This record gives sequence, structure tokens and C-alpha cells, in this order.
Amino acid sequence: MKRIDIPFEQFTVGPVKAWQKDWLLLAAGDLSVGDWNCMTVGWGAFGVMWGRPMALIVVRPIRHTRGFTERYDTFTLSGFPETLRPALDYCGSHSGRDGDKAKVAGITPVAARTVKAPAFAEADLVVECRKIYFDDLEPRQFLADWIEANYPKKDYHRMYFGEILAISGVAKYRAKD
Ligand SMILES: Cc1cc2nc3c(=O)[nH]c(=O)nc-3n(C[C@H](O)[C@H](O)[C@H](O)COP(=O)(O)O)c2cc1C
Repeated sequence: MKRIDIPFEQFTVGPVKAWQKDWLLLAAGDLSVGDWNCMTVGWGAFGVMWGRPMALIVVRPIRHTRGFTERYDTFTLSGFPETLRPALDYCGSHSGRDGDKAKVAGITPVAARTVKAPAFAEADLVVECRKIYFDDLEPRQFLADWIEANYPKKDYHRMYFGEILAISGVAKYRAKD
């Protein structure tokens, strides 16, 4: 997929649709040494923190990807055309512990522009991030009683703020001047 560089100021993405409907593929690790993993994510945000472009992701402790978000400094978030929804489905329902998910899903890891975590050849959006903050959700601080229902196993997410270092995507992700 041919992607163009997108300055953060011109990044246009549906703040709900991108996550809740389209989904994104989180990848963390180091492609050059073959040590990485990916998983589908539907919760998170793009925004601004400490005056810088930021992506927020949340990862449960059980995820194989979690070891990679812990051990490595960078991650990517990739969007795909609708025709590749089965790939996102697969990566969101199988674990990298059990095999090469990307291969089975038919997506091709390629070098990202600025980070060691992989991008994907078929992606129509790649957001490259460096971890800058993490914290674990604290159930004592849930202020709505329905939140806890998301955690029957008490496997509270760890959230990571990533500083966005680069964005590349197809034209629809770039606002017209
Ligand atoms: C649409 C969708 C959204 C998901 N969002 C998240 C998420 O935001 N955080 C999370 O920890 N798991 C999320 N998951 C679950 C992981 O993608 C899934 O457990 C995956 O198999 C983990 O793979 P891994 O063990 O290789 O890391 C989501 C799954 C789907 C299908």
C-alpha cells in the first residue's frame, strides 16, 4: 500500500470509528532481530499530551504482546483496508504464543520509518510511537460501577502513552489544506 507522510497537525482520523469500528493492529518489538508480536486493539486514543502528539493504548497482562510493550521502547498502530478485516479478526483472537499470526493472517511486516517495531506492507495507516509513560488501571479509582464488569479475571489493563514520532497513510488520513 502506498502511504504518504502525514504531519500530525494534518492527521485526520475518526476518533471513535478508528478504534471501535475499524480497529487497529498494535505491534511491538524489534523487526530487525525478529522479536516482535502484534494484536488487534479497539480501545485507545490519539490526542495531545504534554504538548506533544500522543497515542494511548491499553494492554491486558495476559497478552503475549504485553511482554513486548514492556521490553521494547516503541510500538506501532496500523490501520488496514476493510478487505483485511479477517486479518484483524485473526490477530485479535489468536495468540502469538501459538504461532506466526501475521503469516497466517496474510499481512507482511516491513520496517517502519522511525521505530524498531514493524509496520505492515498492507496497512493504509501506520502510526509510529515511542513509549513515554505507563500506568496500571487502579480498580479502587473506578468512579463508575459498570467498569469493573470488564474485569471478571481482575486483569486490569496497563496503559501506555506513546509519543507519535511519524504517521504515514493514504490520502484520506491527511486533511486538505
Ligand atoms: C476488536 C478487538 C479489539 C481488542 N482490543 C484490545 C485492547 O485494546 N487491549 C487488549 O489488551 N486486548 C484487546 N483485544 C484482544 C487481543 O487482540 C487478543 O487477546 C489477542 O489474541 C492477543 O494476542 P497476543 O496474545 O498475541 O498478544 C482486542 C481484540 C479484538 C478482536
